[in-house]
Amino acid sequence: MQLNHPDIQEVLVTAEQIQVRVAELASEISDYYRDKNVLLLGVLKGAVPFMADLSRAMDIPIQQDWMAVSSYGSGTVSSGVVRILKDLDADIKDRDVLIVEDILDSGLTLSWLTSNLRARGAASVEIVTLLRKPEAAKVKIAVRWVGFDIPNAFVVGYGLDFNENYRSLDGVGILSPSVYS
Ligand code: IMP
Ligand code: MG
Repeated sequence: MQLNHPDIQEVLVTAEQIQVRVAELASEISDYYRDKNVLLLGVLKGAVPFMADLSRAMDIPIQQDWMAVSSYGSGTVSSGVVRILKDLDADIKDRDVLIVEDILDSGLTLSWLTSNLRARGAASVEIVTLLRKPEAAKVKIAVRWVGFDIPNAFVVGYGLDFNENYRSLDGVGILSPSVYS
């Protein structure tokens, strides 16, 4: 569905801009893992469109797996305590794992996930996130690839939701506060 939607206050990234950037990322990531056997690990559900587009734009063979996690916390504040709702199917011991994430905000979820995967014996764990908010600068988390740096606003589209809505919008925009106030 097109991002041109009455609940979108401001368009941040259009569908066309996403596709251009995804192609650039796919090329860099393919070069990085060319002699490896990389496992793309998508974080459900927000990373589904990004995973689909990124992996298809890569020019090396890849495998995909998925995890669903939820961070405990009150309301919109992430506590950093994470619960696994759906675990990996693959054994990642000695594997090169690339976490594919929709957005990096506080970074608490990804920081927990990275150490969890390292503890399982992964050979390497890297992160690609489509979007990054300014908050992410406060945590010590090494993100190798970032699609777009965006302002500190609540955004939806291209996988990102508010109450499970707006995931199918083809770009990313700021949700009008009138929707949730
Ligand atoms: P954090 O980096 O641990 O704070 O958590 C990031 C997660 O919070 C993301 O994977 C999203 O699921 C969610 N999230 C953070 N910011 C937004 C937003 O602006 N819109 C929709 N979901 C968001
Ligand atoms: Mg997410």
